Amino acid sequence: MNDFNFYSPTEFVFGKGRENDCGKYVKKYGGSKVLIHYGGQSAIKSGLLDRVRTSLEQSGIGYAELGGVKPNPHDTLVYKGIDLCRSENIDFILAVGGGSVIDSAKAIAIGVPYEGDFWDFYCTKRPEKALPVGTVLTIAAAGSEGSGDSVITKQDGMLKRATGSDVLRPKFSIMDPQLTQTLPAYQTACGATDIMAHVFERYFTNTTEVEITDRLCEAVLLTMLKETPRVIADPDNYEARANIMWAGTVAHTNIVGVGRQQDWNSHGIEHELSALYDCAHGAGLAVIMPAWMEFVYKHNVMRFCQMATRVFGCEMDFENPENTALAGIRAFRRFLHDIGMPINFDELGANQQDIPKLVEKFGLGDGRTGGFVALSSDDVAQIYQIAANAKL
Ligand code: NZQ
Ligand code: ZN
Repeated sequence: MNDFNFYSPTEFVFGKGRENDCGKYVKKYGGSKVLIHYGGQSAIKSGLLDRVRTSLEQSGIGYAELGGVKPNPHDTLVYKGIDLCRSENIDFILAVGGGSVIDSAKAIAIGVPYEGDFWDFYCTKRPEKALPVGTVLTIAAAGSEGSGDSVITKQDGMLKRATGSDVLRPKFSIMDPQLTQTLPAYQTACGATDIMAHVFERYFTNTTEVEITDRLCEAVLLTMLKETPRVIADPDNYEARANIMWAGTVAHTNIVGVGRQQDWNSHGIEHELSALYDCAHGAGLAVIMPAWMEFVYKHNVMRFCQMATRVFGCEMDFENPENTALAGIRAFRRFLHDIGMPINFDELGANQQDIPKLVEKFGLGDGRTGGFVALSSDDVAQIYQIAANAKL
């Protein structure tokens, strides 16, 4: 196991109706005037936004509002948010929504105290200062409620890029699983796929002797295999929703990934798809992640056998372990299909003729990237090609 620091300062406030206390938590973390940041219609329709306003009013906290965050959030709204925070003397940002809203809130939070263009932080600069952010989470997926990451798309050129820093970790995140009961089955499944992908990005590692994090990863994956079909069949199943919601946070605070090298190429490769086609990040991962696995499994066949046997319950073929590795990958793709995810370019609405463009936007040039297997541009092109033609 490698040396590590684990810093996860977020207070997670979990359970039914806990959003009614959001004013109390804003106050606890020093907010006196809040920007309520939200997405499209879901938080309005469910009455959540009204409950958030009431809670803030009851705690004597003033607020301004900025809605309209779209999935795969754009820089344009971030600039508006920064201006609004400055003109309204906002000192706390409350994100009410999913990963897109939270990431947009984090971008505003680093932009407000910075004199330059906030996009600098999505190029090379590391954030060191940010307004405090709290969240009321409405979808189990990105894990942004506990992570120090934010992903934004620059509209000019449709560049989807990430930044990361501990200053971006939310002060608190309110997690009421009931709020996720209004999610359409497709969004629930996209979220589940993203959660599993966050685990796999960490699971496939070259670091040895990491039994504890291997087992934690497998626990999250097994939970997702059990609970996702339950909520797809019964969207109001509170207990299954609750398990998935916590799994989403555990998958991405990095508690399952400490002390080990991680990969993250599937995410980078997927981000070009959601930037170009505006598809859901989880749907893009359903197409890319098994394709990435097929491309890299020979690098460590036994690690893929471990996944296949411990997570997907495959029989170990001692004569030919590659069969077991491939059976595990097939089982993963089958699961994704069964929960309603696309598994190839056609089903996603992507076009194989765009592969050279996707590779170019990925921006690797002659370099290599990735922790488990360092990929070249040509490798990335091959992974897109496998994904384009994937079958069950
Ligand atoms: O805008 P509304 O109307 O709220 O609709 C949203 C949106 O259309 C809807 N939704 C959310 N909660 C709902 C609901 N609909 C009904 N009932 C509810 N309770 O769901 C749709 C998707 O929302 P979004 O926030 O985009 O989903 P998600 O949480 O998957 O976030 C995706 C974004 O996060 C980034 C992705 O790249 C993508 O841009 N990621 C962020 C990460 C991070 N910050 O740590 C890591 C991830 O790997 C990921 O890259
Ligand atoms: Zn993700």
